[in-house]
This record gives sequence, structure tokens and C-alpha cells, in this order.
Amino acid sequence: MTSRDQILSLFRQQSGAFISGQKISQELNISRAAVWKQVEQLRQLGFDIEARRSQGYRLLQGPDLLLADEITTGLTGAIDWSLDCVADTGSTNQDLRQRAEKGAPEGTVIVADRQSAGRGRLGRRWASPAGVNLYCSILLRPHILPSQAPQLTFLSAVAAARALIEISQLPVRVKWPNDLLVGGRKIAGMLNEMSAETEQVHFVLLGIGVNLNMTAEQFPEDLRYPATSVLLESGRTISRTAFTRSLLTHIDRLYQLYLDEGFWAIRRRWEGLSDLLDRTVRVDLNPGCLQGTVVGLDDDGALRLQTADGTIERILAGDVTPI
Ligand code: BTN
Repeated sequence: MTSRDQILSLFRQQSGAFISGQKISQELNISRAAVWKQVEQLRQLGFDIEARRSQGYRLLQGPDLLLADEITTGLTGAIDWSLDCVADTGSTNQDLRQRAEKGAPEGTVIVADRQSAGRGRLGRRWASPAGVNLYCSILLRPHILPSQAPQLTFLSAVAAARALIEISQLPVRVKWPNDLLVGGRKIAGMLNEMSAETEQVHFVLLGIGVNLNMTAEQFPEDLRYPATSVLLESGRTISRTAFTRSLLTHIDRLYQLYLDEGFWAIRRRWEGLSDLLDRTVRVDLNPGCLQGTVVGLDDDGALRLQTADGTIERILAGDVTPI
């Protein structure tokens, strides 16, 4: 832990009460001048810290910064999280893939405040302005077959939906294969990648982008689908730190459930968050189009569609619209 993280942790333990400069310098084994310097740096980062000559320092309010220690303190799941929060990068998926290839352990996470080349599905870009949303990539190393890797996409969608519902109480629904919607507008997307050989997965990256405090002006004008954010839907700004903590908690719980009980447990939860089950839909297959009733998910994540003549079609890629 850096001195800065240690001071923040001391402030947190005080829950808004004063702590003397001398106590901080003793706890951290640094000089009083060094304490003052760290406090100044925290102020420059946007922390509101009051200083009183006789009482010391107290934290009045923190900015909505994404700091690894703030996010992971107190998380009690089974995954040993190791977070790296960066201010700016091209794409967290790209960065995490490099680390995964060098042997980074399960539970390694990269969180970025901003992405300059955020990637979406089908070669699209993912708008990633600074200071407002969550852009993160999570490394898992499950002992599964490559054909099972898409199952983790559904796991990440259920985890992100649960975190969003917990933090914002918005009516979040999942859309096959890996979008989260509120009122038909996209609020989050997953871009999961894997590295594998014929019989074995080396790693899976869960790339998750969630529009939290993004304003209407911050969405690109050429967006092909209707998009939204928690702020636009609820009028409320939410803490990125609280949301990220909740997301990691849900990923951890669902991952343990998946390892213990298999995909059916995730599939059931995903289907419970889907509006499309038992509904008639049109699937644009590019080329071609199919119509039928959604009857569920297959083990490899394919959407099962029952057509008018009773045949079950397996959809592996396509755009699904209810009719
Ligand atoms: C989609 O098109 O719906 C998927 C969007 C995924 C965006 C996230 S943001 C964090 C991670 N890094 C990326 O470059 N993309 C994913």
C-alpha cells in the first residue's frame, strides 16, 4: 500500500473524525512534513480535507476517483482481487490480455478512468470519456473447455445487472447475447475474450463497460443503437467506487456458484432477467432473418428459438428484436 492509500485508510477508520498529524506520522513511519505533503497531494486529487491546528486532519468528502484500495477494502469473497486503476489507456481488454499472457493470476483487474480506444463488439468502438463511467477487464482462469467460455459472458451480464439494480434500483434487463438495457436503451456491454487450445482454456477476460454518470452530450452522435446511463435514467449521480465494489462482489459470488453447480445456475438467473423468454422475436442473421419464440439458452450460449413448425433453431449470432 502506498502512503497515500494508508492515509486514506486511516481517514476511513476515523469515519469523519479528526486524526492528529502526529498519529498519522507514527502509523506510517514518515515525518510530519511528509504527512502534510501527502495531504496536499490528496487535496489536489479532489479530496476535501479539513486541517485544524489543535486537532489534525479529517476527511470531509472524497472525489469519485477509482482507487484500488478504496474499491477492494472489505471485499470478502473467494477471489483474491488485485486491482490496477489507471487514469488513461487505450483499452483495458488489450492491457489485461498482455498481462494474462505473461502469467498474471486469476483476479487481476484493470480499471480505467478513460479509454482512448475502447472496444465494443463486432469491431465497434466503446465511448469511454473520463470521470463518469466504469471500464474494466477482469481475468479468470477457470478449468473449462473452450466451448464453455461463452458461458462466462452470461455470468458477467448477470453480475453487472445485479450490481446496477442494487446501486440504482433501475429495471435492468439482459439482452442476448451480452447487453444490458433499461427501457430498451443500452446501459452496459460486455466484450469477453479468451485464450485457449483445443482442450483447455488458458484464461478468460471479462471486459465490462457500464454507463454510470454519462450525460447525453457525452454519447457519440453516430451511435447505432439507443443508449443511456444511470444518470440519464434516474437523474442521480452514483459512486463509481460503490458500483465497482458491488460488481466485483457479484462476479465473485456467481463465479463460485458456476464452479460449484455449473452453467445451469447462471442460465436460470440470466433467463430471469430476460424479457425475451417465451416471446416472439425476429432475428436478423445478416444475411437472412428468422422468426420464432425464444425458449432459452443452450450450454454454449446459443439462443434457442422455436419456429412456427416446432423446429428448435440455435442462434449463435444475430440481432434479436421482439415483435
Ligand atoms: C459492446 O459492444 O457491447 C461491448 C462493450 C465492452 C466495453 C468494455 S469497456 C472495458 C473493456 N475494454 C474495452 O476496450 N472494451 C471493454
